[in-house]
Amino acid sequence: MRQASNSIMLRVIFCAWFMALTALLSAQNESVKYIGPGSCAATSCHGSVKPIAGSRILQNEYSTWIIKDKHSRAYQVLTGEIGERVARILKLGAKAEEAPRCLACHALNPAPGQRGRRFEISEGVSCENCHGPASAWLGPHTTKSWPHQKSVALGMHDTRDVIHRTEKCLECHLGTKNKFVDHEMIAAGHPDLYFELESFSAVMPRHWKTPRESEPGKPAEDAAWVGMREWSAGQAVQLRAAMERLTWRAKGERFDKQDVWPEYSELSCFACHHALGPAKDSWRQEHGYAGRRPGDPPWNSSRYAVFRLLAKQIDSANAQELDRQVLAVSDQMSKLNPDRNAVALAASAAVPLAQRIAERLLTMQYHQAVALRMLERISDDAENIALADERAAEQAVLALDALYIAYSKDAKPGNAAEVRAAINELFGQLENPSAYNADQFASSLRRVHTLLH
Ligand code: HEC
Ligand code: HEC
Ligand code: HEC
Ligand code: HEC
Repeated sequence: MRQASNSIMLRVIFCAWFMALTALLSAQNESVKYIGPGSCAATSCHGSVKPIAGSRILQNEYSTWIIKDKHSRAYQVLTGEIGERVARILKLGAKAEEAPRCLACHALNPAPGQRGRRFEISEGVSCENCHGPASAWLGPHTTKSWPHQKSVALGMHDTRDVIHRTEKCLECHLGTKNKFVDHEMIAAGHPDLYFELESFSAVMPRHWKTPRESEPGKPAEDAAWVGMREWSAGQAVQLRAAMERLTWRAKGERFDKQDVWPEYSELSCFACHHALGPAKDSWRQEHGYAGRRPGDPPWNSSRYAVFRLLAKQIDSANAQELDRQVLAVSDQMSKLNPDRNAVALAASAAVPLAQRIAERLLTMQYHQAVALRMLERISDDAENIALADERAAEQAVLALDALYIAYSKDAKPGNAAEVRAAINELFGQLENPSAYNADQFASSLRRVHTLLH
């Protein structure tokens, strides 16, 4: 009797334990996990040496990434001289390659519970950093008729959507409240971060087909305008992300609870960092300091100075309201002691406006006339852009570059070589930003305007 009841008790306990375990396991199954790039590397998957003819995708994505893409070296740069120096100057108390603060952008470093398999942190920024955790879709996505949307439902990041794609890049190339490169890090030797989707996508060795092959029931992408859509929507998302970043900074929401205000990396770098010369030669003094007290560092308006011209063109209602909010941000941020509430209010109001314009830019039709009009508007606004900031000038040149490639492909203008040379000359003026001269830049930008006709 006692024995029987004991064994029943044991069975009950075992059963409860078993059910708890299965519940736990299935709960874990539901939470998607990272499995590391090795899982994608088979030759029949993404590790072919050459693109596979007749395949919808290239299938040599892994080889491209590991051989040519800087992302696969992102961990190694932490172990190099500059990486270790940054860590030492910041007194991180750990080597850069062991500091979560650095690994957040330089590797695939999920929490231990989110690791589905053993993989090496030294593999750098890998597939799942951009495409999302693969445990739930890895198996099914290899079957022939498996639709992309089902993978997205199982945790794949929708990089096909230019808005989502840009958001993903900006997590590391602009930062979030959980990982960022601030002035302290820059002063310790980290490169300043800037971004523009089209140019950065062109520099990153592409492991995907552009234009994408048409899907059943959808028209094929028009090759000439893929780049222009990337530039346009990318600009809108970049402004949105910058406004989100400024909002949490104004509210003091850093993950490590440190509160720095105003954060210098939100301001115009070269207002503080340019070389000084004789007063009479200073273009800064000559132009005065519109909208601020002489000597106060202005807000870094590079993510807006060019984009505002585009926004006005394609969505004047939202653009007008956006202009009001960003001007309020700019006015506040260009004071020595910006009012945090006013900044947070205006910056957060700008977020949904930029998003609406991004959505419009994602779906609108692009053609030669739109590209030409933007080329004209940007080169015509020479003075404002040149005076805004060196980084704004840089965004203008990146824009001209992307737009002119798209425009000249079909239009084949007779003086294309001359325009190209003029754009390259502008790039040259930005090589030493501390020696930047706004008047010279504006005059070269105006030259591009003349050449367009
Ligand atoms: C918010 C993301 C982010 C964080 C956090 C971050 N980095 Fe970076 N880091 C980048 C990006 C993006 C680049 C590439 C910049 C570019 O070329 O535009 C970069 C570049 C570098 C480079 C230069 C690499 C080269 O090829 O010259 C070094 C060195 C570096 N980071 C070290 C560090 C260290 C050390 C830390 C931690 C203290 C750190 N990073 C934290 C995003 C980040
Ligand atoms: C730095 C970000 C990044 C990394 C790292 C990365 N990818 Fe991509 N990948 C992209 C982007 C952006 C696209 C283009 C948009 C798209 O088609 O999804 C893309 C496209 C693809 C495509 C084509 C998708 C399609 O539907 O046409 C495949 C396949 C792919 N990547 C596989 C990989 C594999 C495998 C790895 C790792 C070896 C990898 N990617 C690493 C960003 C990345
Ligand atoms: C997980 C963080 C992360 C994500 C996401 C990410 N990057 Fe990067 N990216 C880096 C780091 C870190 C470096 C610097 C690597 C190095 O210098 O070796 C870098 C370098 C680059 C470079 C080389 C820059 C140079 O100076 O040569 C390009 C281009 C680039 N990224 C484009 C992109 C694009 C486009 C996307 C989105 C599709 C993207 N990245 C997404 C972290 C990231
Ligand atoms: C409000 C003024 C101000 C702004 C804006 C500012 N900085 Fe600094 N920065 C400083 C000061 C002050 C130091 C410390 C210089 C020292 O101690 O010699 C410094 C240090 C640095 C250093 C290290 C010093 C050196 O000589 O190598 C770098 C690099 C740097 N800043 C880059 C930037 C970048 C890039 C930006 C924009 C993203 C920026 N700064 C914005 C004031 C500013």
